[in-house]
Amino acid sequence: MGLSSLKLLFYFVSCFYLIQIDHFGFLEDGTFKQRYLMADKHWKQPGGPVLFYTGNEGDITWFCNNTGFMWEIAEELGAMLVFAEHRYYGESLPFGPDSYRGSKHLNYLTSEQALADFAVLIQDLKSTLPGAQHSPVIAVGGSYGGMLSAWFRMKYPNIVVGALASSAPIWQFPGMVPCGDFYKIVTQDFARSGYNCDANIRKSWKAIENVSSTAAGLQWMTEEFSLCTPLKNKNDAFGFKNWLQETWVNLAMVDYPYEANFLQPLPRWPIQVVCKYLAFDSTVSDYQLLRGVSQAAKVYYNYTGSSSCLNTSQTATGSLGFLGWYYQACTEMVMPMCTDGVHDMFEPEEWNFQAFSDECNIIFGVRPRADWAGTVYGGKDITSHSNIIFSNGGLDPWSAGGVTYNITDSLVSIMIPDGAHHLDLRYSNDHDPPSVRAARALEVKYFREWIKQAKKSSTS
Ligand SMILES: *[C@@H]1O[C@H](CO)[C@@H](O)[C@H](O)[C@H]1NC(C)=O
Ligand SMILES: *[C@@H]1O[C@H](CO)[C@@H](O)[C@H](O)[C@H]1NC(C)=O
Ligand SMILES: *[C@@H]1O[C@H](CO)[C@@H](O)[C@H](O)[C@H]1NC(C)=O
Ligand SMILES: *[C@@H]1O[C@H](CO)[C@@H](O)[C@H](O)[C@H]1NC(C)=O
Ligand SMILES: *[C@@H]1O[C@H](CO)[C@@H](O)[C@H](O)[C@H]1NC(C)=O
Repeated sequence: MGLSSLKLLFYFVSCFYLIQIDHFGFLEDGTFKQRYLMADKHWKQPGGPVLFYTGNEGDITWFCNNTGFMWEIAEELGAMLVFAEHRYYGESLPFGPDSYRGSKHLNYLTSEQALADFAVLIQDLKSTLPGAQHSPVIAVGGSYGGMLSAWFRMKYPNIVVGALASSAPIWQFPGMVPCGDFYKIVTQDFARSGYNCDANIRKSWKAIENVSSTAAGLQWMTEEFSLCTPLKNKNDAFGFKNWLQETWVNLAMVDYPYEANFLQPLPRWPIQVVCKYLAFDSTVSDYQLLRGVSQAAKVYYNYTGSSSCLNTSQTATGSLGFLGWYYQACTEMVMPMCTDGVHDMFEPEEWNFQAFSDECNIIFGVRPRADWAGTVYGGKDITSHSNIIFSNGGLDPWSAGGVTYNITDSLVSIMIPDGAHHLDLRYSNDHDPPSVRAARALEVKYFREWIKQAKKSSTS
């Protein structure tokens, strides 16, 4: 929309690279085609740096489109851009579109395999692309992709000279941060964006329960929210509440200072717009309150005016691979979350590992290993690593599990108080707060230092 899409002038080539399905065992000898995008318009050969986006759980072209920062700095750094797709997502499907059916194949969907894919791809590019042999490579990623870029530098310091891990919750694992912080931040975003906004959302859960206790009430809600599928019973009302909760969380992630289309097309500062419909005082009736909630939800689902009904089975773009991510959450990426209804605006719900594990077992036939991510990636004991920037937005609930303080001189945290989810990786915009401009400038400064260090050590 508007300014940012005019700037989407991408000159990349889309390529495929044959890669091992299993890097860590020798019984499975198959390969699959991994997709990556390459843009070398500004690349200074020989030896110019490579900015390498470590793809996350979705279509890589979508992440590429939402990572304008790399496009904007390519020229000043004389850098080549590479965006590598994560296995099992987008078009990088080892076993074709059927691959989600059997968990035998999903067995190879792990972050360790994905990092090994990236490492092998870079080694190959360096040995086959003329002029790339001595190019320093910097990993860049946001969200889960940011976790991967940080871990990539930790596990393969021989391959990348540094990493920018934007909005990367590398500590959102069992025993590392309090499970309630995530939803506390969501709540703070609503509390600061309008009168009584958080209080009315907190109240809405009970109002939904009240209204949904009769068939007439369920029908009223179905019509008021323009739902595609009617609510028929208590179970549907439960699913409806989950969907609303996820809607508020997504809004907190994409509370950007300008009109944008990341998870959905949205106005600038969307939570402020949402909160305009929720500024009731405490005497409001259940029905009035829920009418406000429906108008608020439609800011998220119908900003463009093109939606004919609201679908409670989806909350975001189809470019994300939900099933694949769910599998990863059910194996390595165990991220405890909880609510208490007091410090947050949600219904109280404890973190229950056993219940989660049982659900995973029913769906995928596997059980999560709660402590594995901490064991394999170091948890909070990462001081021995170097050259990683962790940037976090103060509005972003994922900052709860992020690195928000400086660990050492070269494990640096950059805070962006007015930033939502990886705002720094997006295209610059006239409405950008000064904190994100400063963050980007500092990030480029570190990139230059790492590149200089790398050149020095390769010539000495
Ligand atoms: C990315 O942007 C290009 C160019 O604007 C567009 O053709 C493509 O559909 C976009 N891809 C996604 C997944 O949004
Ligand atoms: C729900 O119903 C109860 C009992 O009638 C009432 O006290 C309460 O005010 C209603 N609404 C909310 C939001 O709690
Ligand atoms: C979305 O907005 C358009 C335009 O205002 C309206 O005609 C339509 O009914 C809305 N859709 C829903 C689901 O509310
Ligand atoms: C709602 O979303 C689900 C999941 O994306 C999809 O399968 C279904 O067809 C959608 N329903 C309607 C009525 O659009
Ligand atoms: C970490 O150190 C850098 C460089 O000195 C500084 O700019 C930044 O504000 C520090 N981060 C935090 C969270 O204090």
